[in-house]
Amino acid sequence: MPVSIITGSTAGIGLETARGLANNKHDLILVSRNKKKLNLLKDDIENKYQVNCEVFPYDLSLITSNINFFKDIKKKYNHIDFLINNVGAIFMDRIVTSEGIEKTFALNHMSYFTLSKLFSENYSEISIINVSSEAHRYIKLKKDDLQNLCNYYGWYAYKRSKLANIYTTYEINQRLKNNTASINCLHPGLVNTNFANNNSWYFNLMANIIKYFGITPLEGAMTTLYLANNKQVRDLSGLYFDKCRPRSSSRESYDIHTRKILWNYSEKLLSKYL
Ligand SMILES: NC(=O)c1ccc[n+]([C@@H]2O[C@H](COP(=O)([O-])OP(=O)(O)OC[C@H]3O[C@@H](n4cnc5c(N)ncnc54)[C@H](OP(=O)(O)O)[C@@H]3O)[C@@H](O)[C@H]2O)c1
Repeated sequence: MPVSIITGSTAGIGLETARGLANNKHDLILVSRNKKKLNLLKDDIENKYQVNCEVFPYDLSLITSNINFFKDIKKKYNHIDFLINNVGAIFMDRIVTSEGIEKTFALNHMSYFTLSKLFSENYSEISIINVSSEAHRYIKLKKDDLQNLCNYYGWYAYKRSKLANIYTTYEINQRLKNNTASINCLHPGLVNTNFANNNSWYFNLMANIIKYFGITPLEGAMTTLYLANNKQVRDLSGLYFDKCRPRSSSRESYDIHTRKILWNYSEKLLSKYL
């Protein structure tokens, strides 16, 4: 049975991804913050689909949690088939984590960066899927302000984090030492989930009106499930997918100079905790 990790798996797109993979007989490793929700989900999935499901309650906005999660897995599993970096949120107010890192950058980028790097360096046959967004278009990274210190605006911080997911995917793809591993990223669509509901009532209302026109979480999981459930796409790597097809990401996302700046900055940050 394939073994698949999904981050942010108790709600929305991650939850439907978990169900879809379990239905295709993947054993699951699920990560989110809420232990109670994770345990209920584990029971539900194991009963319904007859697969093994392990759950790990971690706050992935902390670099140390990402490292500890990786260490837990490394101790126990010699082989991982899929790592699906799906966790993500938008923060309309600038929040700093207990590690002193701006939270959009920490959760949406550093978690993807840390897990993609550690797993790709330690599991030679892994396929990594990074859930990015079409929101990555029409924005550039602020190379000298990657943690959004100046003039914070949550939507732009979110857009930059989703662009960072694509840079991370392209950089790791270039670093993969063999062609048995792969890494791709994707846009799930505009999906009617809990996304953005962690903000003020005004912003929630706006977000809920927009999401009302979105697709269902199951439909939003389709491209992730397509990449994880189809053997014929196993050899594809370094691509951006939308509606189960590869497509070009923004012109900016192919800028190697910016990609290297982000990589070096993130690596330096990670090295403080390793
Ligand atoms: N919804 C959309 O329209 C849309 C569009 C494009 C891209 N995306 C991307 O799709 C991905 C999934 O979004 P979604 O809409 O499914 O979101 P969602 O419904 O808000 O679900 C987020 C999941 O992440 C978990 N989570 C949140 N903060 C966490 C943290 N600090 N540590 C660990 N787990 C955490 C949540 O569980 P707990 O609260 O229990 O931790 C939940 O399981 C995100 O990367 C998002 O950027 C979404």
